[in-house]
Amino acid sequence: MCGIVGFTGKQDAAPILLNGLKKLEYRGYDSAGIAVCNAGGISLAKVSGRIARLCEKTDDGKNMPGFTGIGHTRWATHGAPTDINAHPHMSCDGRFSVVHNGIIENYMELRQELSSKGYIFASETDTEVIVHLIEMYYKGDFREAVMKAASRLEGSYALGVLCADCPDRLIAVREASPLILGIGIGENFFASDVTALVSHTRNVMYLDDGEFAELSPKGISVFDCTGASVHKKISHINWSIEAAEKGGFEHFMLKEIMEQPRAVESTISPRLQQNDIHLDDSDFSPEELKSIQRIIITACGSAYYAGCAGKTAIEKLCRLPVDVILASELRYAEPQIDEHTLLIVLSQSGETADTIAAMTECKKLGAKTLAIVNVVGSTIAKLADRTLYTWAGPEIAVATTKGYTTQLAVLYIFALYAAKTMKLLSREEYLRLLDALRSLPKKIQQALDMNPLLPKLAEKYSSNHSVFYIGRNSDYAVALEAALKMKEISYIHAEAYAAGELKHGTIALIDEGQPVIALCCNNKIWEKTANNIVEVKTRGAQVLALASKGNRAVLAQADDVIFIPQIDPMFQAAVEIIPLQLLAYHAAKAKGCDIDKPKNLAKSVTVE
Ligand code: G6P
Repeated sequence: MCGIVGFTGKQDAAPILLNGLKKLEYRGYDSAGIAVCNAGGISLAKVSGRIARLCEKTDDGKNMPGFTGIGHTRWATHGAPTDINAHPHMSCDGRFSVVHNGIIENYMELRQELSSKGYIFASETDTEVIVHLIEMYYKGDFREAVMKAASRLEGSYALGVLCADCPDRLIAVREASPLILGIGIGENFFASDVTALVSHTRNVMYLDDGEFAELSPKGISVFDCTGASVHKKISHINWSIEAAEKGGFEHFMLKEIMEQPRAVESTISPRLQQNDIHLDDSDFSPEELKSIQRIIITACGSAYYAGCAGKTAIEKLCRLPVDVILASELRYAEPQIDEHTLLIVLSQSGETADTIAAMTECKKLGAKTLAIVNVVGSTIAKLADRTLYTWAGPEIAVATTKGYTTQLAVLYIFALYAAKTMKLLSREEYLRLLDALRSLPKKIQQALDMNPLLPKLAEKYSSNHSVFYIGRNSDYAVALEAALKMKEISYIHAEAYAAGELKHGTIALIDEGQPVIALCCNNKIWEKTANNIVEVKTRGAQVLALASKGNRAVLAQADDVIFIPQIDPMFQAAVEIIPLQLLAYHAAKAKGCDIDKPKNLAKSVTVE
């Protein structure tokens, strides 16, 4: 979703801003703009559509000289994605320019107030009220005007503000929307996420809610809403620049799919020391774990499906009821939650608005919270009582892959850890499962080695306008994520169905040539799904089955079979999803889709 960047230093800002915006493209956007300040005032360029158009319009930034500037990629909420609604927005007197990520909830009343005082609105956005408020409060003190304006805002906002009277200064503000400060030498930056900063600096500070930062080439000062100075810790980003680049792969998505053995290894190995498991600084005491009567997993999108696939491991090993609830549902569900509930929150970005809201509601009701997050310093990581990072490295493609598998890996680790701590496993069983978990990166690699087989199968099974994925229990959980991958990047309608439910509706849609992907890896019940294969084949379906290596019997039922490397059934989902990610990738590639930036989708959904 919207991304913001800011720069102040001793070189032209525009090329740096454009480059930063390109790094944020993956978040999803539909218009973009930059504003640059020099002794002559503020110059502005904004366009609907891609950043490439902004580069053309500004001659790659060359026709906008000035050492201080702000930039924005907008994902339209209030007002269509037009040039005028794109950010930055300017004050009527041209003295201020603002970029904003988030939503101003009281913008209607502010707009009325400002209009009645003669401020003219150029756009339909909620953001524009901010810049007019700053103009209204300005009495010669830039910082004071921004603070006064911010005190009038309700909602979520990360702001970057320029003032023509102070051409070497920037002000940044954070309230419920991510903002990171980058510390350079003789130059300083801000951005919505670190991918826009790593090529300039690895030293960053994470702004907290209610904090302001004033940046000049010489330094950064952070203060709170009373103006009192705040001391911030400097963190060091240990991602390499290459980690945020394609590294020879055609798409970020393929790179991230291929990175999964390494990503899962980074998730698992620091926590599995010899035969012990440690949850970083988040260890639970046996008493605390035993006081938990119910676990709720909440998340959105693929993270929700990771929860569906990880639920069984926790339920089986910890003997606790586990409900997986969509965050957008949970936030309004008035759930039965108390201090005996452990809420596990899954989020790659750590910034998903619905997930944050659900978490906040459950915390109010007394739930203990454990966040499983990839982005360090993100809102969800900070809100949680305990956080376990997935350590997957930057994920750029909108459709998550390594985000999903590493979330699953952390759920597996937690399940095994909690069961051991509560003494629910025999030593022998514990060691057996620990070994299986350690083998996960290797099994994922074996599944990836099947990649050369996938383009042909993708061509065959994505030729129709729709495709069904069927399976039972853990296979069904994987089918949900596999179908989501197919629809989000290839735009082919894909539906996951619990195989036993086919007769209750979906089978009416099976005609000659209908592609069906049947997941038969759950060795306890694969034969049940095999019966469903026969039913759909009788009605003309073409069936691609997934089966555990060695299950030759499936060959007789399906048209094509992919054999999945075997691992303990508890951890099967993280291996089984791999060829299905590749299937979706190759289907989208064959259709010529914009794989890394699918239409209408955003990587980080920071609004409800
Ligand atoms: C968006 C992304 C998905 C992601 C979901 C939840 O829809 O495109 O890939 O699964 O948000 O995001 P989170 O960052 O909370 O995992």
